[in-house]
Amino acid sequence: MLTSEQLIQEAKKAREKAYAPYSKFRVGAALLARDGSVYTGCNVENASFGATCCAERVAIYKAVSDGRRDFAAIAVVSDSQGSTFPCGICRQVMTEFRIPVVIVVDEVGRIAEYRLNDLLPYAFDNIE
Ligand code: THU
Repeated sequence: MLTSEQLIQEAKKAREKAYAPYSKFRVGAALLARDGSVYTGCNVENASFGATCCAERVAIYKAVSDGRRDFAAIAVVSDSQGSTFPCGICRQVMTEFRIPVVIVVDEVGRIAEYRLNDLLPYAFDNIE
């Protein structure tokens, strides 16, 4: 099972693949499934901006489409100095698949872990 540090490293590798010609803001994500498998994603932008998909959702959709449903944590990195937190839509998607922990890096390189429940309290959730 990967450590938080290793998961951040995987997210940094994924960031290299970012397709971000419009914002120039590269993001990488690495999602750890409970069976130990890791799925990475980068942001993929589009000339029609609304078609852009965040790195987190790319990773989650890769994992789910590969049959994974049970997750431990997701790590997110960008090019910015401070922590990059997932956007609202990604938090909602993380809620759907019960990803309990979000791992980010702060401005001095420290790894911090947040509970999804704290990042999106009172989430809409229609799952029984
Ligand atoms: N982006 C992500 O990939 N993840 C985030 O958590 C925040 C935003 C992307 C979307 C877009 O390609 C670029 O960053 C600027 O918003």
